[in-house]
Amino acid sequence: MPNAAITGWGVAVPDRVLTNQDLERMVETSDEWIVSRTGIRERRIVGANDSTTSLATDAARKAMEKAGCTADDVDLIVVATATPDDFLVSQSCLVQAEIGGSAAAFDVGAACAGFVTALAVATQFVNGGMYNRALVIGVDTLTRYIDYTDRGTCVLFGDGAGAVVIESSSEPRGLLSTELGADGAGHKHLYVPGWAQMVPESADIFPDSRPHLQMNGREVFRFAVQVMGDAALKSIEKAGLTLDQVDMLIPHQANARIISAAQRQLQLPEEKVWINVDRFGNTSAASVPIALAEAADAGVLKEGDNVVLVAFGAGLAWAAGLVRWGTDGTSPATPAS
Ligand SMILES: CC(C)(COP(=O)(O)OP(=O)(O)OC[C@H]1O[C@@H](n2cnc3c(N)ncnc32)[C@H](O)[C@@H]1OP(=O)(O)O)[C@@H](O)C(=O)NCCC(=O)NCCS
Repeated sequence: MPNAAITGWGVAVPDRVLTNQDLERMVETSDEWIVSRTGIRERRIVGANDSTTSLATDAARKAMEKAGCTADDVDLIVVATATPDDFLVSQSCLVQAEIGGSAAAFDVGAACAGFVTALAVATQFVNGGMYNRALVIGVDTLTRYIDYTDRGTCVLFGDGAGAVVIESSSEPRGLLSTELGADGAGHKHLYVPGWAQMVPESADIFPDSRPHLQMNGREVFRFAVQVMGDAALKSIEKAGLTLDQVDMLIPHQANARIISAAQRQLQLPEEKVWINVDRFGNTSAASVPIALAEAADAGVLKEGDNVVLVAFGAGLAWAAGLVRWGTDGTSPATPAS
């Protein structure tokens, strides 16, 4: 049975930077409060020329370039997002309209756990032999749904996209194990109330105001601390590995204190945990692939390294996986029929 090696990766974030000092001028908060409670110093925010499509496309092009392939070589596009640009057309089709090709294309919805979930889905297709090469993208522009008068949420989120190309490999590479889970009963701890009411019964009752994300921060914090470490441990165990064989943890970048709790549970030294929440805040589905791509570009991921990906988010949902790093794909340059 083939495996699905990660052979390319790319990142795209908006140019516009929103710092803690900017937020101090918008709501009653302080740089000291935000840094001590979350670790966040700044985040990137979509501007007039950015969209979920533009960020996802940019990241996808970089990933394909790194993998040495074009859109014609891609058999499958899976986009993880909670903030697509169209209600009807999948975000993956909108990306395909930009990059070209005729790959199968659909979206996965698991909020901040979306990228790891989408990677698990795409990996199944490659491991099963149905497709040779897939583009997996995590992208969100959640700041479009943030109430910038709500200090409890507006300091946390940023926008961005991260993408990887996976392709079949005869070596044990890519996602070797997956641990997915959900607790739908907790969905109201982090959701966008009023979204359902946005669906019009008739054209004239469509409301003007955009709904905003609402969060019970303490409950989400409690949930996150519990599931991050547990899910990561299970994915390590399922891959037949022990804690001392883990080379790098790439966690969802929601809050530095949540990451520290997972780090402690996995007994990892600081240098084995990739953290960029200080620069990007919580970019939802983009968070894990951005961190993974940064770690790869920094040269800290070596051939054969065991890398744990773990994320949690709205749903409430979580996803973890053990990736064996190594960029040797063996796919032919043409798609499977
Ligand atoms: C949001 C979060 C940072 C709040 O930190 P906390 O230590 O739990 O803080 P609390 O919610 O207990 O609030 C403490 C106080 O700070 C206040 N506060 C909240 N946001 C604030 C801000 N931006 N600046 C200053 N004060 C703030 C609260 O109003 C509260 O005041 P009160 O005690 O007078 O009521 C934290 O709960 C968290 O990170 N939760 C997880 C969120 C998350 O990851 N969401 C995304 C999941 S994908």
